Amino acid sequence: MDFKMLISELIAEVSGRSAEEIYNAVEVPKAAMGDYAFPCFKLSRVFRKAPAAIAAELAEKITLPEYLEKTEVVGGYINFFVNKTALNKSVLDKILSEGKDYIRSNEGEGKTVCIDYSSPNIAKPFHIGHLRSTVIGNSLYRIYGALGYNMVGINHLGDWGTQFGKLISAYKRWGDEKEVEEKGISELTRLYVLFHTKAEEEPELNDEARGYLVKMQNGDEEALSLWNRFVDISMREFQRVYDMLDISFDSYAGESFYNDKMTAVVEEIKSKGILEESDGAQVVNLDEYKMPPCLILRRDGGTLYPTRDITAALYRKKTYNFSKCLYVTAVDQKLHFAQWFKVLELMGYDWAAAELVHIPFGLVNLGAEGKLSTRTGHVVLMEEVLNEAVEKTKTIIEEKNPGLENKEEVAKEVGIGAVIFDDMFNGRIKNIAFDWNKILNFEGETGPYVQYTYARCCSLLRKAEVSEVTGNIDYSLIADESSQALIKALGDLPKKIKEAADKYEPYIISRQLIEVCQSFNRFYRDNSVLGSEGEVRKARLALVYGAKTAIKEGLWLLGIKAPERM
Ligand code: ARG
Repeated sequence: MDFKMLISELIAEVSGRSAEEIYNAVEVPKAAMGDYAFPCFKLSRVFRKAPAAIAAELAEKITLPEYLEKTEVVGGYINFFVNKTALNKSVLDKILSEGKDYIRSNEGEGKTVCIDYSSPNIAKPFHIGHLRSTVIGNSLYRIYGALGYNMVGINHLGDWGTQFGKLISAYKRWGDEKEVEEKGISELTRLYVLFHTKAEEEPELNDEARGYLVKMQNGDEEALSLWNRFVDISMREFQRVYDMLDISFDSYAGESFYNDKMTAVVEEIKSKGILEESDGAQVVNLDEYKMPPCLILRRDGGTLYPTRDITAALYRKKTYNFSKCLYVTAVDQKLHFAQWFKVLELMGYDWAAAELVHIPFGLVNLGAEGKLSTRTGHVVLMEEVLNEAVEKTKTIIEEKNPGLENKEEVAKEVGIGAVIFDDMFNGRIKNIAFDWNKILNFEGETGPYVQYTYARCCSLLRKAEVSEVTGNIDYSLIADESSQALIKALGDLPKKIKEAADKYEPYIISRQLIEVCQSFNRFYRDNSVLGSEGEVRKARLALVYGAKTAIKEGLWLLGIKAPERM
């Protein structure tokens, strides 16, 4: 039951305004002021009366339906108090009958959303910036999926470009097969860095590297087999991180996938008359839009990052017919996306402006003394951070609950969950200050706190020997203030999920989970569950079951596991 809608219709009826107009104005006030409030200030012009007078008049005309306890006029507001039993019933009946599906909807039915996320670069470390893209992207993937959209998760691997010519050159000169096999990306990175140092003294090296790139482009077997090896070695390492995060993709079509598709696209840009020469390179001028030109072809005819993105977007539109294609990257790529989105628009693709969305996020600050320890110098490797989180969690578990079964598994789920939760606790664009003490605090607004509350719900239901709560519940028995607050928090979750999708902000869900957990813990403090009996016990257990369901599904949407014991 959507009380806001019902109330809007009531007000519409007595005021003669449209239900939609009213709906947009109805607010959720502070608890003591009721469940919904309608401000009459805007109507004051229409009716030429003081807001307070309008509020009084409208309230007078409203006949209270069963689901409303009372209305109160305060200043220019009419406050509505929903009947507690009706509210309880509407929220809990839904959870009890639909279970985990209570948070789902079908608003996206028949529509496809592509999400381009994670997208690390071959032969380069998977760093903390890629972690942000990975976890935010994964969460959006699940959120949109829960709203019924058909999802395509794309890992747009950085697997093509000048760096590979350099790497081949370095590998052939100084590389060793065994070293590369054993040390993987860190050895490839070492070779790549070495190339740059050497090339400063011997600029000819750059020509050699370009030569290898041309060979790659022309399908040279040796060059391509080396490139393939670099890809395999890197993917092996990336896969370890994805396994830890339990994330997979529907497509791994990276930049190289578009090699044979770009000529036609460059031709098309040319034929639309927007390609011009600049310093030997081919660009699309964007002066009119106050942006630097978008580079399409290098002097030597080589393609660039934007060329590949434009080609990929056209390919995806044709292949998936998306209604939206989202790109999750750090905010420093903002201009890049704005530029090539504009190029597509200038090519005449009207959908580009509305359907392509860049979803930027802020940086991770490692703190003055680099609180994130790393053994590889200045790049913070994700694998190390995740492993450290798990280790630290193990120590905490040893202290708090040494007898726990599956300690290893739980430490993984909690440690990694803590890092993910912290990443998505604030708006994306906010920079993150990485602080282990905060992240792993079981009492703060953290992942472990939410998981702990979940485990508490599970434990209660275990002890009560109920796995599922069904049947008729006397909802009037859970009308006390703290039960009520919990029910509201549970009932609001689906709305928050929708809001998170609309704003591309998973933090809206993590905040709501904190709200659910805090109100659950207050409810639990104020009400005995196992010590109660009969119908009261049944109603309270229904509430515990509701909290359990909401927390588990909310965590899942964030990409976090919910261990039943911890
Ligand atoms: N590989 C790029 C990087 O690491 C991110 C790619 C993002 N996706 C895209 N379609 N441009 O910065």
